[in-house]
Formats: sequence, C-alpha cells, structure tokens
Amino acid sequence: MPKWWGWIAPVIIVLVVLSFIPLAMIYYARSSRSPEPKPSIIPDMDNQPKYRAQASNPLFTDQRAMRPPVAGTVARGMLATDTHLYLGVVGEQWAEGFPPELEIDASFMARGQERYDIFCATCHGLDGDGNGMISQRAEQLAEGTWIAPLSYHTPTVRERPVGHIYNTITSGIRTMPAYGTQVPVEDRWAIVAYVRALQLSQYASLSDVPAEQREALKLQAEALPPDGTADQEEAAGGEEASTDAATEPDAEGGGQDG
Ligand code: HEC
Repeated sequence: MPKWWGWIAPVIIVLVVLSFIPLAMIYYARSSRSPEPKPSIIPDMDNQPKYRAQASNPLFTDQRAMRPPVAGTVARGMLATDTHLYLGVVGEQWAEGFPPELEIDASFMARGQERYDIFCATCHGLDGDGNGMISQRAEQLAEGTWIAPLSYHTPTVRERPVGHIYNTITSGIRTMPAYGTQVPVEDRWAIVAYVRALQLSQYASLSDVPAEQREALKLQAEALPPDGTADQEEAAGGEEASTDAATEPDAEGGGQDG
C-alpha cells in the first residue's frame, strides 16, 4: 500500500458524508412548510401580500376576505326592468300574454319542446300528464313522500296565465324545485309556449285541424281500434299525425299543430 493512502482515505470518507448534505437540504425544502417565500433567483412580483379566496380577514367584522356585493348592485347587462319578460308580471297581475319582444313561431316552439323534454318531461311526462320517469320511479319506491306533478290538463293549470307558468319555472312552486338558474329567460318562455301546446293537444277538436287534413284524419280515426292502443304506437315513435286521430288527440300531434 502506498504511503499517501494513509491520509487520503479519511478525506474521501469525509467528502462522501458531506455530499449527502445537499440531498438532505433538498429533501427538507420539499417536505417541510414555511411561511417564508421560497428563495427565488428572479423574484419578479411572485410574492406579494394578498388575501386568497375564502381566506379570513380580521379587518371586517364577519372576518371574510371575500366581500359580498353591496346591496342593490346589478351586474352589467343584468338590469331586469322589463317585468313582463323577466318576471311574467304585467302591472300587479300574472301576464296573460307572451312578452311582445318574443316571436312565437315554429322554431320557438321547437326550442320549447326540446327544452321541455330535457328539463320537465322527466317528472311531468312527455305529454304533461305528470307521469314522467321520475314520477313513475317514485311511485314504485312507495316511500310515501312523493307528491305527483300536477297534470297540465287539470282545470287549475289550464286556467293559469302564461306569466304564472313562467314563474313556476323560474321559482318553482310548492314541492316543485326552481329551474330559473338552469333555464335562461327566453327558453323559459319557449317552454311555456310548448306547455300551452300540450294543453291544447288534449282538448283540440277537429275544427282546429287545417281543413285539407281533416278528411285524412277522419279515415285514420276509423281505422284505429277504440281501446287506446294509439298511445302505445305513439310511444314507439309513431310518425307525425299517424296516430293522433284516435278518440283522444295525442300530445305530439297537438304540439306540432300549436
Ligand atoms: C323534479 C320533478 C319536476 C320537474 C323536473 C318539473 N316539475 Fe313541475 N311540478 C312538479 C311537481 C311535484 C309539481 C306539483 C307541486 C305540488 O303540487 O306541490 C309540479 C307542478 C307544476 C305546474 C303546476 C303548478 C300550478 O299549480 O300551477 C306547472 C305548470 C309545472 N310544474 C311546470 C313545469 C315545467 C314547465 C317544468 C320544466 C321547466 C317542470 N315543471 C319541471 C315536479 C317537477
């Protein structure tokens, strides 16, 4: 063994031990918490005093750093002064008609039908008789807490002004939840129009059908059995106006007429 080995061995041991120190420091820095900002070579404005969302701030009596808007604040573009459009109210009464700025045409009705099928049919059923899937399931569970949705074809709902139905969607009614946060104003009116069409569909008479289609409708009605099988055909995706002529007119046909 050469003579220099006598002093170099301890030096190597010391160096190896020292080389662990940076590793230990990195581990410590990564696994510990400190209120001080991390060292940064180019600090820019990375670290400044601020309050984070949901943090507390002793300056205010309620200790909340996030401040609620001052009472009466209206966000830009959200001033709803048109009570007919936004609340369904004219004067002190529920509006009897649709807001004049809305054009009630076929595409408006189609939109209403689509939105109705998404937001309402689950409970109220596609034809508005209150027999949607949620209602059926709740009846099956028989927990005794379910209040069935009111059929649109009851005299009560048939006599409701459109403004009242609009408000039912916006704010809910009794056990029905509100849909105002999910359905925008115009879509709510479109749904109201479609609800009206559903109502009409159950009480339409032959004179509501365009004259040139009455004859075909009569022929179909005669061809159908009187026991209501028309409904099942309809549910299976019946063609337009193919089954509507049964003794009771069907929801979908009426919706298209309206
Ligand atoms: C979660 C189920 C559910 C959904 C979804 C639902 N409703 Fe209802 N709705 C009800 C129930 C339940 C009632 C009856 C409330 C009661 O009598 O306590 C009702 C009642 C009504 C009434 C009659 C209220 C009256 O007295 O005039 C109308 C109109 C109505 N809903 C429209 C709608 C429309 C439109 C939608 C879609 C935007 C909708 N509902 C979505 C459950 C629902």
